[in-house]
Formats: sequence, structure tokens, C-alpha cells
Amino acid sequence: TRPLKVALLGCGVVGSEVARIMTTHADDLAARIGAPVELAGVAVRRPSKVRAGIDPALVTTDATALVKRGDIDVVVEVIGGIEPARTLITTAFEHGASVVSANKALLAQDGAALHAAADEHDADLYYEAAVAGAIPLIRPLRESLAGDKVNRVLGIVNGTTNFILDKMDSTGAGYQEALDEATALGYAEADPTADVEGFDAAAKAAILAGIAFHTRVRLDDVYREGMIEVTAADFASAKAMGCTIKLLAICERAADGGSVTARVHPAMIPLTHPLASVRGAYNAVFVESDAAGQLMFYGPGAGGAPTASAVLGDLVAVCRNKLSGATGPGDSAYTQLPVSPMGEVVTRY
Ligand code: HSE
Repeated sequence: TRPLKVALLGCGVVGSEVARIMTTHADDLAARIGAPVELAGVAVRRPSKVRAGIDPALVTTDATALVKRGDIDVVVEVIGGIEPARTLITTAFEHGASVVSANKALLAQDGAALHAAADEHDADLYYEAAVAGAIPLIRPLRESLAGDKVNRVLGIVNGTTNFILDKMDSTGAGYQEALDEATALGYAEADPTADVEGFDAAAKAAILAGIAFHTRVRLDDVYREGMIEVTAADFASAKAMGCTIKLLAICERAADGGSVTARVHPAMIPLTHPLASVRGAYNAVFVESDAAGQLMFYGPGAGGAPTASAVLGDLVAVCRNKLSGATGPGDSAYTQLPVSPMGEVVTRY
């Protein structure tokens, strides 16, 4: 069988791990897919920053030429941000490639248009890595729970802020010190404002709510409050009440089913609540549905290797589809429900 060719766009914290795992797990990946997967090109802004272990002959600064080559089966986009990622993804579809992306900001803003572009070209668009790092959430919501009715998705979906809040709570560290450590560990976004102001969590909430409730929710629809104003004094008062503080994403379907809400804000939760024990850069998400009841998804929510794990899972799925001529489940939005940022539903803990 001919090798499947993969173009990697971006080779930072996540991209370099994707390249590493593609090499070290090459035999297993080939066995699982049914054909070898070949890294055909790596597009970066600064070639001098590409980590050792990647063949310099594969490295280019011309991402557009790479996705236009015409022989690329799958484009893996781990650049982040809106442009040039959006144009590169649509160009990839136009040139016969499927796409695996970790780009929550882009999916939360333009998911519908990107899915339409993928459909138009019979291509796949997978983005498990966009939400909660290594934790499988997109496919469980889109596939495993497709026959159930999800009513609520809530939890911790940003590793950086959980790491900071955890440090502040457990060691009394200052905000800046904890943020610097999260950045050094590769958890924070290129611009950590996206983490601490709640934009990253809000983008993930928009993606999760859209998939869970089969509707469209965009970043702008999500009520958002970051955690920069949480202080040591807040932690002291929370503790006095038997609580801690977490930055939560909460997505709910109204009881009458006619609307949905999505919001991100710091919340006090009792120390006895399972979310209180989510430490470091871990994430945890509760999904509540009619038939299944309550499910909890827990695991590393940020970092190069965990996020690469989700990218690789998508890569295997997309490559299998390529070989069989099928496409994956695609966009599950079939009704546009009104989205209100806070809604009438009151959540109690
Ligand atoms: N900056 C993100 C986080 C990375 O801290 O959760 C994973 O999306």
C-alpha cells in the first residue's frame, strides 16, 4: 500500500511531539492504519527553532506551497490562531487533503464554515486536540453519545489556569510566578492572555456546546470571565467555607430544550466535589445525558505530548477514512438553537 503523506503545519510544543511520535510509533501506526504514514513536510516560521530529530530537508517556511502540493493526504494544523491557519486549512481541502487541527480559537469562530468546506471536498475535519488536550471528548460526544441526549457539559477545560489556581491555593504562590511556571512547562498559549482571561476555555465551551447539543455556538456567544482577579484572599474565604476556586466552563440545554447557554467564570466549589481534586494542568469534564446519566472525563488537559496524543488519534482515524474512501461524522449541527450567555438555568454545586 502506498504511504499516506502528512504535512505538519507548526512545529512548536505540540507539533514537535506529533513529529516525534510519528517517527517512534511508525510501525504501530502503519499496522493500525493499514498503510505507512510518512511525514512529507513541516512548515514553520523560523526553521532555526525546529527541534532536533526532524529531517531538515522536510522543513519549509512556505506552508501554502506545502498544502498546495497536491500529493498530501492529511494536513495537521498546530499553528493556532485564526490566520494563516484558516486559509491553509481551506486550501488543504481544495487540494484533496483532510485536516486534523488543534485550533480551538479557529473552530470556535469558524467551525461551521470549515465543516462546510470539508464537506464540499469530501474531506475530513477532526479536532479532538482542540478541547482538553489528551482527553477524548469530541468523539465521545459526537459518536459514542450520538444516540443519547446530552443536557449539560461542565468542567475544567484550561490546564494553565487550573495549574495557576492550584498553585495559588496549595502553595500560596503569586499569580505571576505560577503563570511563568505554566508557560515554562508548555501549558500556556503563545499569548497567555487567552488562558487567564478565559478566551481559551470559552472557545472550548463553544465547541463542546455545539457538538453536545447539535447546534452552533460561537466564541462570542459564550459569557466569559477570566481568573486574573482571583486573589489569595478569595482562596482564604473559599477555604473558610469548605470550598476552593476553579475556572469552570458550563454548557447547558434549557429544560424546555429550546435554547442553550455557555459560560466560563471562576466558581467556588465544595472541597468534596470531584472537580476540587483536579490538580495541576489536568482537566475534568462532566457530561450529563438522559440515558447515560453522569459521565466524567479526566486527564492531562495541556502540554505537548498529551495534546499530540489526541492529534495522533485523529490522524489514525482520518488516514483510515482516506484508505476506505469514507468520511467521518462531520458537522453534527442540525438546528440553530438560541444561545444565551447566562440563561435562566441556575447551576448548583
Ligand atoms: N493553553 C491551553 C491550556 C492548552 O492551558 O489548557 C491546551 O488547550
